[in-house]
Amino acid sequence: AFNLKGRSLLTLKDFTPQEIEYLIDLSQELKSLKYAGIRPKNLEGKNIALIFEKPSTRTRCAFVVAAVDEGAHPEYLGKGDIQLGKKETVADTARVLGRMFDGIEFRGFKHETVEQLAKHAGVPVWNGLTDKFHPTQVLADLLTIKEHKGYLKGIKFAYVGDGRNNMANSLMIGAAKMGMDFRIVAPKELFPEEELVEEAKEMAKERGGKITITDSVDEGITGVDAIYTDVWASMGEEEEFERRVKLLKPYQVNMDMIKKADDEVIFMHCLPAFHNRDTVIGEEIYEKYGLAEMEVTDEVFESKHSVVFDEAENRMHTIKAVMVATIGK
Ligand code: CP
Ligand code: NVA
Repeated sequence: AFNLKGRSLLTLKDFTPQEIEYLIDLSQELKSLKYAGIRPKNLEGKNIALIFEKPSTRTRCAFVVAAVDEGAHPEYLGKGDIQLGKKETVADTARVLGRMFDGIEFRGFKHETVEQLAKHAGVPVWNGLTDKFHPTQVLADLLTIKEHKGYLKGIKFAYVGDGRNNMANSLMIGAAKMGMDFRIVAPKELFPEEELVEEAKEMAKERGGKITITDSVDEGITGVDAIYTDVWASMGEEEEFERRVKLLKPYQVNMDMIKKADDEVIFMHCLPAFHNRDTVIGEEIYEKYGLAEMEVTDEVFESKHSVVFDEAENRMHTIKAVMVATIGK
């Protein structure tokens, strides 16, 4: 089949549609095996470094559980645990970790850091989120769409909200590669970078996909099969919040928006989500802006359309597939 041994995953740009499909198929296979109680131990004896500059629930737990399921040892290296970039260059840290570990996950701020790690480590490096891209999330999202809709090519898929963040960028790439009819629905101020849109349009050609960037909810949402949104201010840009609330209020995913889509539309979100006041920050936001529901209403989040916890679970199966494909036996 496909040999991805030794490959890093920094963005899905570097993977062909066939390779992405192979990773989704492998995820489904590993998921079935797990459900059947079979643990093939494809990563027996491997050691995996997990570097986190930012907090994480899903990505961290997905890597840990996937590694342990397959017989590997994961080592969590959190903010403040290692010298990365502070007292030691990223390149030196990469060369040290590469001597000890078989694979390295990185979540952090600058995309250049994960590129540097991959350049110098000598072992596969997987991007667990940077300010620019979040490719392992997209694999989980593609698997989730496939599970609910049966196919990917031609699916009408709208991402609504902050059109310039890591999720908008990486979903655009993933959807383009899979030949989807993808739309970014956002205020003009938050449209994606023109250069990336052009790249995505180029990638979409191979499978007859389509990329539309619009500030019109009606144009972007009418009849779609899937609606995706993400937080209005990502990790590290909390000071943007006030401006974003003003810009993005018309782009909240609520029942009025859901009604414009296909009757069977699925609602997607990478999580964490602001859909009520039941968190410390949710309460703070409520106090400040009088809004407890930000990018999505509680009604939509809890509705039959919502597949957000399938996506969360699929993080684990897809990350497992990435590790097995790139460093497994
Ligand atoms: N979706 C996602 O990456 O979640 P975490 O930030 O919890 O890892
Ligand atoms: N755009 C969000 C995604 C979190 C998984 C962030 O970067 O904070």
